[in-house]
Amino acid sequence: MKIAICPGSFDPVTKGHLDIISRAARLFDRVIVLVVINPAKNPSFSVEERVELIRRVTGHLSNVTVDAYHGLLVDYMREKQATVIVKGLRAVSDFEYEFQMALTNKKLYPQADTVFLTTNAEHMYLSSSIVKQVASFGGDIADFVPSQLLEDIQARLCPRDTAQEAKGASI
Ligand code: PNS
Repeated sequence: MKIAICPGSFDPVTKGHLDIISRAARLFDRVIVLVVINPAKNPSFSVEERVELIRRVTGHLSNVTVDAYHGLLVDYMREKQATVIVKGLRAVSDFEYEFQMALTNKKLYPQADTVFLTTNAEHMYLSSSIVKQVASFGGDIADFVPSQLLEDIQARLCPRDTAQEAKGASI
């Protein structure tokens, strides 16, 4: 059985992530979406919240489960006997960092192969950071996040009074 891991910060999960997860689910027997800590990032959602949001939008994918891990991705992979890492590539600018991570993971765990899926053209510009930035100024994120999560993500990233202020403010 081929077990693939879709690792990421998912802070929060976007339509772009969901596209990659759905396509990975068609390619592999079992997919584990793994919320992992990226030490370079300062998250807006707790790990538990991120797991819950992803579970809500992947429930219809029978071979997908969601988990969280604090530690090295390769240690989790060994534990689960997973050998594939699936990542989405949006643009050339993603490549250098992703290539570095893929090689590091391979060095630490030679059985690990990273498979890159090219992001759907519709989602090329999309990232969790963009979602957070637009929402924090009261902008519309409906095209960026799964519709079932829109209200909850908006409520967290842009509380109502902040949205009003952001829309009206000029410097
Ligand atoms: O969504 P992101 O933030 O680009 O995902 C990066 C992530 C979380 C997959 C990466 O930082 C990671 O694998 N973190 C776990 C720690 C680890 O294994 N680091 C070594 C890989 S270079």
